[in-house]
Amino acid sequence: MKQVEVGLDDRAYPILIMQGLLKEIGTELKHRSLGNKFVIISDDHVAGLYAEGIVTSCRDSGLDVQLLTFPRGEESKNLTVIDNLCRKLAQLGIDRHGVLIALGGGVTGDITGFVAAIYMRGIKFVQVPTTLLAQVDSSVGGKTGVDIPEGKNLVGAFYQPQCVFIDTDVLQSLPKDELLNGLAEVLKYGVIYDADFFNFLGNNRIAILDMDMTVVEAVIARCCTIKAEVVMADEKEADLRRILNYGHTLGHAVEAASDFAIPHGMAVSMGMVAVNKLAVAGGLLTPERAERIQSVIDAFGLPIEIPAHLDRQRMVDYLQTDKKSVGGRPFFVLPTQIGKVVISDDVETSIIVEALG
Ligand SMILES: NC(=O)c1ccc[n+]([C@@H]2O[C@H](COP(=O)([O-])OP(=O)(O)OC[C@H]3O[C@@H](n4cnc5c(N)ncnc54)[C@H](O)[C@@H]3O)[C@@H](O)[C@H]2O)c1
Repeated sequence: MKQVEVGLDDRAYPILIMQGLLKEIGTELKHRSLGNKFVIISDDHVAGLYAEGIVTSCRDSGLDVQLLTFPRGEESKNLTVIDNLCRKLAQLGIDRHGVLIALGGGVTGDITGFVAAIYMRGIKFVQVPTTLLAQVDSSVGGKTGVDIPEGKNLVGAFYQPQCVFIDTDVLQSLPKDELLNGLAEVLKYGVIYDADFFNFLGNNRIAILDMDMTVVEAVIARCCTIKAEVVMADEKEADLRRILNYGHTLGHAVEAASDFAIPHGMAVSMGMVAVNKLAVAGGLLTPERAERIQSVIDAFGLPIEIPAHLDRQRMVDYLQTDKKSVGGRPFFVLPTQIGKVVISDDVETSIIVEALG
């Protein structure tokens, strides 16, 4: 088993990574004395695949455990689902000592974390991420929340879990597209933080795509370590944590201009390639390094070009109103080398339009 610590003073927690960990969850939860009643929250698809295993593991360890589900998909990340879940927790008699288990992808983690943050003014929760994206990104760092019609993730809280349990076996049932979504975030960590890791990813592409579990486990552990280091330095995204948005500023604009037909990871990979063009245009990144990043992204089967039919003006308009823009100025995470980035909001619109291709 690999273990990564997220050192946040009184909110510190471990990330445990192991093949087959799901079967051990009951023992792990009991050993950590987190509470007396556990409630698994999961989407209806993941629940069908993995909830029973966790229920059995918990009951074998003598723990009281229940299951609540909601329909799969981003559409469930809303306040009605939060309201329903809170009411069901109350009906089950869950008090301040109850513990939630977020079993699923980023949607489940964000929903469950937010319920944990607000139910009875805050109860404990653990993350059991089941998508690659959730394992390397969303389950770590404590961002929770839901969407409202005015925008994604506009209502939420910073609220850290007690523990993150990552079982790499669950990735076997993940559709290829979902795997690629996560791989975009994996490559992001290499570019923003760790050139050796980026080279490792490039050199182990086949093993990763073939789901060689030894390699995949090492990749997840490295991503979690990087995310933990960034979050430890800047929990609430005042400064360093913004580097995690590499490729995302333009990626979100691509997603929005496609009316969310382009999945997040694909949009981020197009966003990474496009933002590198801004860095090259600004003289920050050499064309050779931009080419190297692009060739690895491409080799993983991720898209590198923004589809021609998407409205460029819509993307530029989106950038000005994006919730992370300050005074209508979007910020960009620009690589200066592989493994090093700077943040800038000083980019001419004409250069952005050119980079969008
Ligand atoms: N909190 C954060 O820091 C953070 C960071 C990045 C993204 N996010 C959020 O994460 C969400 C996206 O997460 P996601 O991509 O994991 O989406 P998701 O949770 O919707 O999962 C994607 C799909 O995969 C299915 N699935 C999950 N695990 C599976 C498995 N092991 N086998 C088969 N199918 C499985 C789900 O049922 C779902 O249909 C977005 O809402 C985004 O805003 C949050």
